[in-house]
Amino acid sequence: MKKVIAVIGCGRIAQNAHFPAFSQMEGLRVKYACDLIETKAEAMREKYPDLVENVITDYKIALADPEVDAVYVLTPNYAHYTVTMDALKAGKHVFCEKPITVNYELSLEMAKEAEKQGKILNIGVCNRYHKSVELLEQYNREGKFGKIYHVYCSFRSFRCIPGLGGPFTDKKQSGGGVLIDWGVHFLDLIFYILGGVKLKTATCDAYNEMAKDMKSYHYEGYSMWAEDTADIEHGVNDVDDFITGYVRTDKASISFNGAWAQNIKQDEMFIDFLGDKGGARLTYGGKFAFTSGETLETVEPDYEIPNMYLCEDKAFLESIETGKKNKSNIVNVLETAKLLDELYVSAGLREEVKL
Ligand SMILES: NC(=O)c1ccc[n+]([C@@H]2O[C@H](COP(=O)([O-])OP(=O)(O)OC[C@H]3O[C@@H](n4cnc5c(N)ncnc54)[C@H](O)[C@@H]3O)[C@@H](O)[C@H]2O)c1
Repeated sequence: MKKVIAVIGCGRIAQNAHFPAFSQMEGLRVKYACDLIETKAEAMREKYPDLVENVITDYKIALADPEVDAVYVLTPNYAHYTVTMDALKAGKHVFCEKPITVNYELSLEMAKEAEKQGKILNIGVCNRYHKSVELLEQYNREGKFGKIYHVYCSFRSFRCIPGLGGPFTDKKQSGGGVLIDWGVHFLDLIFYILGGVKLKTATCDAYNEMAKDMKSYHYEGYSMWAEDTADIEHGVNDVDDFITGYVRTDKASISFNGAWAQNIKQDEMFIDFLGDKGGARLTYGGKFAFTSGETLETVEPDYEIPNMYLCEDKAFLESIETGKKNKSNIVNVLETAKLLDELYVSAGLREEVKL
């Protein structure tokens, strides 16, 4: 029998990632497309008339429908907690976009509620389904790196603050800036490739420099994830646009620099894995080059990259079907949420924190 879902939040991630994936999946009905802004949900019904059955603005209608098996929570970060908790309590499985929510305490509550209700709660850690990330995780398990002693990552862009003055740049709504928005993906995939880590210490500095005067900030976005739409007249920008930090774990140490915006016109989006037998540079969202310490040869393996959103959505439905927690279950993502919190604590104190 087909699985029945409701999609709550029909913004950019819904339009660009999940609806296109749903349209390629068999065994799925989208009984409700829901958005506070009705035209956004309606646009999804118009684009996918064979898939989307109803348009609503109140998600509780979908939660009250016994036919709905699962909901997708694709709202801004601040609404992840409330909508997910309501859905779990209504007996639904949930897929919630990243970050889990605005802080670790609420993330833990969400995990506990899923456990209590016996429901699957997956988080949108899509990179865990990226072929390059899967291959590097396999390389590490097979010992190709030897001991990975350090990981460095850079997630820096020229002028990409998303929706200045809107939900992404208001700490109350987002939980933070470039660290919680982009850094969460990088740290999560590093933890995944390392096979999980125990956190030891973290130190971090966070800066809000580039759009202190929102009116004079110039946006030059290049991707579908960042657009200059929000309210610079009345909105808030109190989050990090640059972040730098150092983390000690029981495995590799990790250092990072991240910028939503900077005055250097060059994007630097990569992760370096330094092992005593081999090393790799992963271009974020793309492929990697592996250098063997033995042969000193660098190889760029040849492989196809399937759509990671399609893979994660299929994996979610399979997890509901089997009842087995998979790699994006919230229990496997909590450590990243904990680290994000502690990095922000360290930045506030301007000192290292023990974990
Ligand atoms: N996995 C990824 O690569 C990725 C990429 C982009 C965004 N995201 C995450 O997805 C989430 C949404 O981001 P976005 O860029 O799509 O934002 P967006 O602002 O484009 O869309 C969010 C939508 O949710 C709607 N909404 C808010 N509260 C609602 C409620 N209570 N009921 C129904 N609808 C509600 C808004 O009206 C809006 O249309 C964020 O948490 C973001 O971090 C993940």
